[in-house]
Amino acid sequence: MKNPILPILALAALSASVAQAGPKHGGKWIVGMSQCNLGEPWRVQMNADIRKAAEAHPEMELVFKDAQNDTLRQRAQIEEFVNADVDLLIVSPKEAAPLTPPVAAAFRHGIPVIVLDRKVLGSDFTQFIGADNRRIGRAAGEWAVRKLLSIPQVKARGRARIVEITGLMTSTPAQDRLSGFHAALLGQPVDIVFTADSQWLEPQARSEMESALAVNPQIDLVYAHNDPSAHGAYLAAKAAGRENEIIFVGIDGLPQEGQVYVRQGLLEASFEYPTGGREAVESALKILRGEAVPAQVTLNSRFFTRDNVARGGEWLP
Ligand code: FRU
Repeated sequence: MKNPILPILALAALSASVAQAGPKHGGKWIVGMSQCNLGEPWRVQMNADIRKAAEAHPEMELVFKDAQNDTLRQRAQIEEFVNADVDLLIVSPKEAAPLTPPVAAAFRHGIPVIVLDRKVLGSDFTQFIGADNRRIGRAAGEWAVRKLLSIPQVKARGRARIVEITGLMTSTPAQDRLSGFHAALLGQPVDIVFTADSQWLEPQARSEMESALAVNPQIDLVYAHNDPSAHGAYLAAKAAGRENEIIFVGIDGLPQEGQVYVRQGLLEASFEYPTGGREAVESALKILRGEAVPAQVTLNSRFFTRDNVARGGEWLP
């Protein structure tokens, strides 16, 4: 009779060989973190969240690289991490297509890779962690329609006019925030009268909004894909003396940024985009210990308005 224990032992041996044998670098796990830029408060927060979560784990050492918003530099930095033979990589990529090959190469080299926030193409990585940007965009669109149709002047006019300031359209959050928002607007009495790509940056958003104001005597709402862009658009409208006739909506909802703008009344709403920093560290530890992790972790998000910000916002519907 066959020994029923044998297949179990064989399976255990196999999974032990699949799991990491142990830290390669003097008793510590070395985790490389490739951050696409640190120019916006949200990314500074992501790195801070990662550092804080890692504090409780002296067995793990983090090495951060900042690509300063330069795709080629980020590519090179990922390659440097591979050459240094790190135990695991966390990558928050600037753009999807150009960062797919270095991420896939690291993964195929045997380094587990967690992709955080913006996606790459294909499936050559260990795990993706991020919130559902399409859902956030749709929730922002539904909120915008409800808000606009509650304004008597808009109701009297019959249609509302929206300016959309997108994030960098070669990055997946911008694509999803756009498609979700547009889906919510289908069949509604609203028109997008101006769209521009701010590349996620406040100064660009401000100058795009100057153009939008110059050609549109009536703008009812600005939907910006992140809070720095919403703030840039607000500053342009303020300089033109038109900030009080426009509703500004952004995404990120950081306590020290978007939520402050909402409390101050600059933004009417901000939709939270969690950084995923803590979750990335938790997953990294699991992967390094040889535990299985799901291919995708979808983070929940809240939204903040003038009415709910004091009580911590509300979860998306
Ligand atoms: C920061 C940022 C955030 C935005 C995220 C999308 O670089 O632009 O404001 O929500 O990236 O990836």
